[in-house]
Amino acid sequence: MKVLNFGSLNLDFVYQVDHMVSPGETLASLKMQTFCGGKGLNQSIALAKAGAEVYHAGCIGRDGQLLVEALEKEGVRTDYVKILEEKTGHAIIQVDRSGQNCILLYGGTNRAQTEEYIDQVLAGFDAGDMIVLQNEINLLDYIIDRAYERGMTIVLNPSPFDENLKDCDLNKVSFFLINEVEGSQITGENEPEKILDKLAEIYPDARVVLTLGSEGSVYQEKEYRIRQSIYRVEAVDTTAAGDTFTGYFVASLLEGLDISRCMDLAAKASALSVTRPGASPSIPRRQEVLDWNI
Ligand code: RIB
Repeated sequence: MKVLNFGSLNLDFVYQVDHMVSPGETLASLKMQTFCGGKGLNQSIALAKAGAEVYHAGCIGRDGQLLVEALEKEGVRTDYVKILEEKTGHAIIQVDRSGQNCILLYGGTNRAQTEEYIDQVLAGFDAGDMIVLQNEINLLDYIIDRAYERGMTIVLNPSPFDENLKDCDLNKVSFFLINEVEGSQITGENEPEKILDKLAEIYPDARVVLTLGSEGSVYQEKEYRIRQSIYRVEAVDTTAAGDTFTGYFVASLLEGLDISRCMDLAAKASALSVTRPGASPSIPRRQEVLDWNI
């Protein structure tokens, strides 16, 4: 069984700020750094650092070679990454003194996928293989339809939630990894329990992990639910905490660990990631997660 992550690749321009800039305000930043990011790239790196073998597909421009190097450095297979004559996607990220962030995206090559390219990539995968998706690339609806036709298991992190998701047939998704806001946007419910009830009603065969910020996370499979608390740490930068959780959860699942263990490792890895700056560089390696005694 092979794992394909078809997702975004971004250059993250990260600005350390005293507070998030307000409308009409001009604010001097305290520091600026460039990191490799994009929800797709972060999740591939989290999967790889957690021990999974993963192929990444997605598009970059000639200015995005750094992103391929970052994937390859962690052992992610980049055979399917395509180089286009456009600018690579990027994110402008403000991180405040409490480690919270605001993210402004420029899609660039992340929004330049064609049906032909998607068909070429998916031709390398078969029934039973897994595809991991987020919502930062164009033609997500097409990818879901074609992957489903091929019999692939579809894992979706519908982040960031936007109108494009309404074009996707979410009945084809086997696994949702969502936060409370996305859960609310999909179901129209606000309370975590009601979000889970509604998801079970609309997508009865899908398994769900709902992350609830400081309230931890809940795994749901039909009427069965498992809860996981967070590990409390001093936050430096929360960017990619969700991506780390997703990558570690999926990798642990692939390894055959039981769900409580998958949730615990994902929560630990995600907590460690917020203790340091940047997106992909903040993702801990498996041994660090296993050795962490908190
Ligand atoms: O989830 C964090 C990521 O969101 C950042 O790396 C940024 O690129 C945006 O895609």
